[in-house]
Amino acid sequence: MTLRTLESLGDLAGKRVFVRCDFNVPLSDGAITDDGRIRAALPTLQALLAAGATVITSSHLGRPKGEPNPEFSLRPVADRLAELLGQPVAFATDTVGESAQSVVSSLEAGRIAVLENLRFNAGETSKDDAEREAFAARIADFADVMVSDGFGVVHRKQASVYELAKLLPSAAGLLVAHEVSVLDRLLTAPEQPYTVVLGGSKVSDKLGVIDSLLPRVQKLLIGGGMAYTFLAAQGHAIGKSLVEQDQIPTALKYLEQAKEAGVELIVPVDSEMAAGFSADAGHAVAPSEDLEGTEFGADALGLDIGPATAEQFAAAIAGSKTVFWNGPMGVFEFPAFAAGTKAVAQALVDADAFTVVGGGDSAAAARQLGFADDQFGHVSTGGGASLEFLEGKKLPGLEVLGW
Ligand code: 3PG
Repeated sequence: MTLRTLESLGDLAGKRVFVRCDFNVPLSDGAITDDGRIRAALPTLQALLAAGATVITSSHLGRPKGEPNPEFSLRPVADRLAELLGQPVAFATDTVGESAQSVVSSLEAGRIAVLENLRFNAGETSKDDAEREAFAARIADFADVMVSDGFGVVHRKQASVYELAKLLPSAAGLLVAHEVSVLDRLLTAPEQPYTVVLGGSKVSDKLGVIDSLLPRVQKLLIGGGMAYTFLAAQGHAIGKSLVEQDQIPTALKYLEQAKEAGVELIVPVDSEMAAGFSADAGHAVAPSEDLEGTEFGADALGLDIGPATAEQFAAAIAGSKTVFWNGPMGVFEFPAFAAGTKAVAQALVDADAFTVVGGGDSAAAARQLGFADDQFGHVSTGGGASLEFLEGKKLPGLEVLGW
């Protein structure tokens, strides 16, 4: 397993290089609210431009349904990229159509263009191999070589990630190479004690990763919306908190498996219970045994881990040598319910450990709460991709690069 890196592509001066990035950034009213993924793409783009390549880049943004949808345009990304690179970025209003043809044909060496959202084309995500190949062939017409640098999307078997890398000489960009080396260290040789903190809303999104992590970790801390399915499995009344009824048996199975494996699986001992889902909802702390005991009764919903849980999680993190964190502990977008996520981020920062924040959401949460990326050992740009990597799965977008 050796990932092909940029050096394997040889001298790129005067070559046309298509770079598959992950510019899937959060937008609010058309404005980028977190540009972390664009910044993460800069080292590769700058290296290629400095090498005298003609750089053509694109990405998916959101999940448009295979046709143009202005809501998901990459234009704001191209504008931000121009600011960050300090040089003009040409923008094509389609991906492989007339606009792209004209932009690419007039692009000089040392210059860069962004082609419109790859998912505006049905071929990008088609289930049909031939359709994906046909779309990849149209992108391949623009370039001599392909660089895969969208780590967040390497778990998707999609045209620009997989088929294109087969059609052209291809290699991993600097971001993908770095992500792989960090996550591989977590997968194969984590220094113990190894603690994993999982949050986010759904147990069902985390099934594979819990299965694969249980034999590898010493402590597994469960917060966020998914914790209420575990609390319900333990027989607690959880009011109107998020619950996946069909995952209760799975949660029970994990609690049992953890006990057998000698893994400390820690679920919240208390929660911040709210009167409703809003930033200014009334709220009160309740212990897990009595989540319906606040003034909001059985109508209450848990929107954050409570202070005792935050303290317990922080202590577990403090005693670790390796920590991986994926998923917010609560609805951090509302300041009243951000304390749990902030406490976990702070504990990672304070720990004398190798710390990895996995995923766009967790990284955006940490940034929004005032933390800088360089306070952590590594901030992964891939949510689903980093989880699937840590599950030990073969990821199509890496396999095609030799990994
Ligand atoms: C992500 O945000 O996790 C990646 O950009 C992948 O996006 P997707 O889940 O829509 O494929």
